[in-house]
Amino acid sequence: MTRHFLRDDDLSPAEQAEVLALAAEMKKDRFAHKPLAGPRSVAILFDKPSTRTRVSFMAGVADLGGNPLVIDSQTSQLGRGETIADTAKVLERICSAIVWRTFGQSRIEEMAGASSVPVVNALTDEFHPCQILADLQTVIEAKGRLTGVTLAYFGDGANNMAHSYLLGGATAGMHVRIAAPEGHTPSPDVWHRAEEISKATGGSIEVTTDAREAAVGADVLATDTWSSMGQDAKDTAIYEPYAVTEDLVALAKADVSVLHCLPAYRDKEIAASVLDGPHSVVWDEAENRLHAQKALLTWLLER
Ligand code: CP
Ligand code: NVA
Repeated sequence: MTRHFLRDDDLSPAEQAEVLALAAEMKKDRFAHKPLAGPRSVAILFDKPSTRTRVSFMAGVADLGGNPLVIDSQTSQLGRGETIADTAKVLERICSAIVWRTFGQSRIEEMAGASSVPVVNALTDEFHPCQILADLQTVIEAKGRLTGVTLAYFGDGANNMAHSYLLGGATAGMHVRIAAPEGHTPSPDVWHRAEEISKATGGSIEVTTDAREAAVGADVLATDTWSSMGQDAKDTAIYEPYAVTEDLVALAKADVSVLHCLPAYRDKEIAASVLDGPHSVVWDEAENRLHAQKALLTWLLER
């Protein structure tokens, strides 16, 4: 059966650990693994802008011996109204996998439903699971483990990153705290699913409106833009108490690591001194997009 990666809980805890172990392996010798030799092509579609995802998937597919085909929606028939299912039926005949950054989760579910080759979520409005794999790899590098690590996320608790931290962190057995203003908390379905996963993995989920409470004793602090792609006219003043400042960092563990998926808006959701400071691991995190996604593609295609 074809496996897709549409949301973080599409990998079981054991499968997530396998992918992360493979990512660490691939990072040691970047050009040693060639599962896409042929070269086999991977379609990488974008309905929204991207720097990291585009570059890491293009370079990653090339590293694996494959041929990355990047397609922007404005330049494809998908952008002119060809159906998602018809697009899938064409791509599966020519490509070994489909990677897609799009809007609603239902769109990528529809693509996966029509595709006999793996479909990978490169960000939707609801989830950003490839980013969380890279973040988990970065946490392992910084802390040596995931189980029992406390990760606190600040800001928009209803966005793709918050949802993916909940599901991906719970799968990894982490203690995930979300600090967000009232009315900007995670979707109840995702929150409930993360709690369910946590029960099995020994992790925990806490959602609070109190940023300081969430930061106390945390191993990892994470944040994201207050205004996700497609929300450009949003009033972000409500998130100001959730900015990751030096004060917030001081409440966490002394060796806390700070994550940001990037792009970052300095002195908005994160103080410039924190993003560019000694606790920040954001450049490792950005690099790990490459290794984590190579491992994911390899796992999906070879399992
Ligand atoms: N973090 C991330 O997905 O970045 P891009 O939007 O640049 O791909
Ligand atoms: N939440 C952000 C993540 C960007 C990588 C967005 O969707 O724009």
